[in-house]
Amino acid sequence: MSISFEGRVAIVTGAGGGLGRAYALELARRGAKVVVNDLGGSRDGTGHSDAARAVVAEIEAAGGVAMADGGSVTDGAQMAAMVARARDAWGGVHILINNAGILKDKSFAKMSVEEFRAVIDVHLIGSAICTGAVWETMREQNYGRILMTASSTGLYGNFGQANYGAAKLGLVGLAKTLALEGARCNVRVNVIAPTAATRMTEDLFPPELLGRFKPELVAPAALFLVSEEAPTNTILGAGAGVVQAAYVTLTKGVALDEPTPEAVAAQWAAITDRTGEIVPQAGAEQAMTIMQRLQGR
Ligand code: NAI
Repeated sequence: MSISFEGRVAIVTGAGGGLGRAYALELARRGAKVVVNDLGGSRDGTGHSDAARAVVAEIEAAGGVAMADGGSVTDGAQMAAMVARARDAWGGVHILINNAGILKDKSFAKMSVEEFRAVIDVHLIGSAICTGAVWETMREQNYGRILMTASSTGLYGNFGQANYGAAKLGLVGLAKTLALEGARCNVRVNVIAPTAATRMTEDLFPPELLGRFKPELVAPAALFLVSEEAPTNTILGAGAGVVQAAYVTLTKGVALDEPTPEAVAAQWAAITDRTGEIVPQAGAEQAMTIMQRLQGR
């Protein structure tokens, strides 16, 4: 089965370089009309450049169709204008990849609240703003595919990235609820946790691995998650051509004999035993499993 994006309009934020550029190029190669958004700033989000235009030129040189947008994902008016331009030119918006991001790494002890907020603002609020800008269009069209970009830091933690990790796991929460709210309108929402050698990670990768972790090798997972046959409410890890699935799980748990912290301590092994754990598809399943435990099931 070949996967085509013919007739689809896609927006990729932060697509002036790194992963976003790789996604934009491959979407265009497979027939999508692509909005290449990028503020063109440095790794910490300061400054501006023409990065988006350069990627549009690359797409056009390869025979594809694209438009550049230099707006910031944190600016609601700019994102609304970007979506309006895409709709006016191409008649709709079918795909949104929320990919734009910055880093302000520091140990939590040294991190100011401004540094914490700035990172939440671009990754989490920026993704909410861009998603809000396409949401009604996708609902009206009865078609939408949205990808949030999380990170192993959000899922599992990383020293020096408290702000980034909070933003990234926040995006998982956002995706999980939007997957539920979008289901009736054929709007599917997924999450990718990429690993690639880009300017964001170049100083973290051992030099001999830089060539292995090409951004293009994350694109297959990202593109599948925004394709017609995409699942919804999934989290994929992807890097160097390896694709993994990540889950937020819940153990069976234990009904305490007595509601005391001592009972929790006594039952610790059973509470954390992963035998029979589930992957809830909505928050209400927690209460349902609690009722089952109380009924001795
Ligand atoms: P990158 O720095 O090359 O790409 C991020 C892009 O977002 C840049 O081109 C930047 O100009 C743009 N951007 C920043 N603030 C923006 C704003 N307010 N509005 C519009 N554009 C803005 O880095 P990379 O690695 O390609 O990152 C892409 C995404 O993948 C990010 O969300 C990052 O957090 C995430 N990620 C990357 C990993 C990796 O291994 N490279 C690991 C985990 C997550």
